[in-house]
Amino acid sequence: MNLTKAEIIDLLSNKEPHKLYLKADEVRKQNLGDEVHLRALVEFSNICRNNCMYCGLRKDNKHITRYRLTKEEIIETAKNAVDLGFKTIVLQSGEDMYFDEKVMCEIISAIKKYDVALTLSIGERTYKEYKAFKDAGADRYLMRIETTNKDLYHKLDPNMSWDNRHKCLLQIKELGYELGSGIMVGLPNQTIESIADDLLYLRDIEVDMAGIGPFIPHPQTPLSNQSGGTLDLSLRTMAVMRLLLEDINIPATTAMEVLHPNGQILALQSGANVIMPNLTSATCRRLYELYPNKEKSVQPLEVVAQKLHSINRTISKGYGSHKKNKL
Ligand code: 5AD
Ligand code: SF4
Repeated sequence: MNLTKAEIIDLLSNKEPHKLYLKADEVRKQNLGDEVHLRALVEFSNICRNNCMYCGLRKDNKHITRYRLTKEEIIETAKNAVDLGFKTIVLQSGEDMYFDEKVMCEIISAIKKYDVALTLSIGERTYKEYKAFKDAGADRYLMRIETTNKDLYHKLDPNMSWDNRHKCLLQIKELGYELGSGIMVGLPNQTIESIADDLLYLRDIEVDMAGIGPFIPHPQTPLSNQSGGTLDLSLRTMAVMRLLLEDINIPATTAMEVLHPNGQILALQSGANVIMPNLTSATCRRLYELYPNKEKSVQPLEVVAQKLHSINRTISKGYGSHKKNKL
């Protein structure tokens, strides 16, 4: 659906979003049906070279215990997820350079021996690395732009470059990956207008997947005293994304579930069609604290299945690619 920036701003600021949620739900149903795609999330290292102000894994946070799974442990966790029936594995980590081109390619080709789609979410790398990962079998790549307000982006991490991140996203797309990106809602000084720009950006770079979640302040970061995002504005943002890109994959994000005990179900009823259950071991998962209480939102798979059933949604048996004939 075509929306102008003014119309998007209007939808985002509407005090009565119920109609918007219904519309996004209808568009989701028309384009994608009632199937929900599950992705197995494996958080394999919480070591990060970056220092994003909002994130609990930032390198200056000395309060957390750092961990790094071995290659064998990562492959084993992925195998476990495949045995449970997952058709997509998402390998996520901080920007941990131990996992160089060679190590990553070994992991990728080992996992791709299984009948499964593979998503990487390991941050900014070189074109050469992105190409090598793709050649080794990676199908999708996930990296949020976080915000399209460059000033805000650079305030949130003075050592990072928005232009470089943008360049990386374009390279990933060009290499033929399915591209996932997204933003946080409720960043300090982020305006509704800026969120509208973010949505138009995600539309323009033609993301195949868009992850939208509230910013949740982490006590061991410089932004600990900020108020953070609300579920409501995050849902509205996600619903408008669904209207703009009618058939892409949109996850009901974990951060939404952290803000509200029924956050993910509400998201699935407002445009989302994907859930990313966390398959990381409980010990490591607790240490992958991007934001507080992330761990508390983890639910047994049976509970997820029951909840989906209760809103008449089914679990997809397919890979859940955006480009349907690709895999
Ligand atoms: N609150 C919400 N989301 C966060 N992320 C990182 N820190 C936070 C936080 N405090 C998100 C970023 C990143 C993704 C892996 O997690 O959007 O891209
Ligand atoms: Fe590292 Fe990602 Fe956290 Fe930034 S958001 S500190 S890149 S893990």
